[in-house]
Amino acid sequence: MITEALEPHQPLLSVRDIDKSYGGLRAIDGVSLDIKRGEIVALVGDNGAGKSTLIKMICGALRPDGGEILLRGAPVSFGSPKDATDSGIETVHQSLGLVETLNVPENVFLGREKTFRVFGLFNQLDLPKMRAETRRLLEKFRISVPTLNEPVFRLSGGQRQTIAISRLLLSEPDVIIMDEPMAALGVDEGRQVMDLVVNLRDQGIAVLMISHNLEHVFQIADRIAVLKNGRLVGVVATAETSREAVVAMITLGAA
Ligand SMILES: Nc1ncnc2c1ncn2[C@@H]1O[C@H](COP(=O)(O)OP(=O)(O)OP(=O)(O)O)[C@@H](O)[C@H]1O
Ligand SMILES: [Mg+2]
Repeated sequence: MITEALEPHQPLLSVRDIDKSYGGLRAIDGVSLDIKRGEIVALVGDNGAGKSTLIKMICGALRPDGGEILLRGAPVSFGSPKDATDSGIETVHQSLGLVETLNVPENVFLGREKTFRVFGLFNQLDLPKMRAETRRLLEKFRISVPTLNEPVFRLSGGQRQTIAISRLLLSEPDVIIMDEPMAALGVDEGRQVMDLVVNLRDQGIAVLMISHNLEHVFQIADRIAVLKNGRLVGVVATAETSREAVVAMITLGAA
C-alpha cells in the first residue's frame, strides 16, 4: 500500500458525518471518527449502539446513506468488502472464517493458494512455499502456534483468533478492523490476542477494535470512541480518562 505520501498527523482513515438507517431506525446518525497509523481505537457502546453497523460501512459490507469515508485523505466508496480489502482495509469478523479441518498454512492461504505449473499443464499447490511464507508471517508478528501441520480445530481459541488475524496480514493492510477479537477467550488467550493487536499497532497498522471488555480496552487502546443510540458520544484518550468516565459515556451518553 502507498502510505508514504501521508503527512505524519493526517488520519489514515476518516469517517465524516456518516448515516445509516434500517427502515425507520437510525442505526448510525452523523458519526465522524479518525484513525491514524500506528493507533488502536476501541469502539465501545451498549448492545444495539451501532458498532457493527459502523464497521460494516467502513469494510464495504454496507453502503452509507450519507456522509463520507476518506482513506489517506481521498474519498472512497466501497461497493463490496473486496473493494475495501483492495484498498488496504481488512476485517476480522466474529465468525473467524477459518476452515477447522485445514491446517495453519492452508487457512492462511485460503482462497489465494500458491500454485505451480506441472508440465505446463495443470496447477499444483505449492505447499512448501505456503508453509515457508506462513512461518515468516508468524515470526514477523511474533505469533506462536504449536504446529503448522495440524488442523486448526486442535488449536486453542486464542491461537485460532491469531491465525484468523494473521491471514489478513498477508496482504499487508494499512487498516485492520476487528469485531470483538477477545470475546469468549480466557485470560491467557485474551492476552495472546492483545499482544498481537499491540504488535500490529507497533508495525504502523491502524486498528479499529470493537470490544465490550473495558479491561482489555484500557490495556491496549490509545483512544476510545463511544457510541450510544447511533450517535458518537465522544472520543477520549485512554491515558486521560477513567473506567468510570467511559461507563458514564456508554450508559448516560454524557462525555
Ligand atoms: N439488518 C438490520 N435490519 C434492521 N435493523 C438492524 C439491522 N442490523 C442492525 N439493526 C439495528 O440497528 C441498531 C444497531 O445495531 P448494531 O448491530 O450496529 O449494534 P451493535 O452496537 O453492534 O450491537 P451489539 O453490541 O449487540 O453487537 C440496533 O437497533 C439493531 O437492532
Ligand atoms: Mg455488533
